This record gives sequence, structure tokens and C-alpha cells, in this order.
Amino acid sequence: MAKKKLLFGKDDIHDAVSSVAEKISEDYRGGELMMVCVLKGAFVFMSDLIRMIEGVDIHVDFVVLSSYGSATTTSGEVKVLKDLDSPIEGRNVLIVEDIVDTGITLKFFKDQLLRRKPKSVKICALLDKKERREVEIELDYVGLSMQDGFVVGYGIDCDENYRNLPEIWVIVED
Ligand code: IMP
Ligand code: MG
Repeated sequence: MAKKKLLFGKDDIHDAVSSVAEKISEDYRGGELMMVCVLKGAFVFMSDLIRMIEGVDIHVDFVVLSSYGSATTTSGEVKVLKDLDSPIEGRNVLIVEDIVDTGITLKFFKDQLLRRKPKSVKICALLDKKERREVEIELDYVGLSMQDGFVVGYGIDCDENYRNLPEIWVIVED
């Protein structure tokens, strides 16, 4: 077991998710919204978030994106391993992601979705590692911001471990 330190507790997370949900509810009130969860890391965030949104006609879909290796980092080549089940032409889409780090994954994915002529595409991220950004990407809704460090918990893993932790922890190197 790796050593870890608490970064965000249950209350911090709850407050962040509910404040994001409130903004989304305001922005899309009375309309429809296709929420696209980026698996696996965003599944806990997504499930809490959708239950806090009010007055919006919500549909959900799920994608799996490949993580890129160092060889493809510069080209920003990301693969869609599991695509959307539904068409998004003419619809409001909200990408729900766990963490935005370099921004390469979401820049690639947002560009892909824009080619399908949706009405709009916005991004909602639970965690923003702003200082680590390598490509420019606008985040429309952000839950929590953090500096450097590798986090786990609340759906986020390290080698598939720790997804079930209710809090967000930073792995401490020893
Ligand atoms: P980006 O393309 O560099 O923005 O990478 C974002 C993806 O890297 C996220 O969706 C996560 O899957 C993964 N990632 C980045 N930072 C962390 C972390 O601290 N813990 C776990 N996964 C992370
Ligand atoms: Mg991810």
C-alpha cells in the first residue's frame, strides 16, 4: 500500500459537486443535456453530479479514451476505445471528466465531438491541475483545483486501486 495524505474530504467534495451542479442547473434550466462520462475515473463524480442537477432533462452516455504513452504525447494522439452510443448532432453535450492535467485528452476528445455538429460542447472537471497544462483548453465547470501530485479516491485510481475511497488522497513518495 502506498503512503497517502488526505487532500479533499467528503465535505469538500460534496460542496464542490453541489456548487457545480447548481451552475449547470442554472445554465441549462428547462432544456436538455447529454452528459458524457469519461470512464473509468469520472464514474463516481458523474453519479453524484447527475443527482444534484435540477430542472434539466438529463441523458447520459459513457466513453473510454486511451491514455497516451510518452511516444504520442507531443502529437496528442488519443484513441476512443468505447464511443458514444447516441448521436449528438444538434444536442447540448457536457463532457464529465475526473482530472484535467496536460489537457491533451480532453482537447482531442472535444475536437472529435465538435465534428459531429452538436449544438454545444462544454467541459466539467472534478479536478483541475491548471499549472500542468500543455495545451489550451477551456474548462466550463471545475469542482476543485490542485497543484502537482498524483491523487486517488472518489473514482480515481492508481493502477486500478483506491477508486472506492470516499475522499481524495495524494500519493506520497517515500
Ligand atoms: P491529460 O490528458 O494530461 O489532461 O490527462 C488527464 C487524465 O490523466 C485524467 O483523465 C486521468 O485519467 C489521468 N490523471 C491525471 N492526473 C492524475 C492523477 O493525479 N491521478 C490519477 N489519474 C490522473
Ligand atoms: Mg481519465
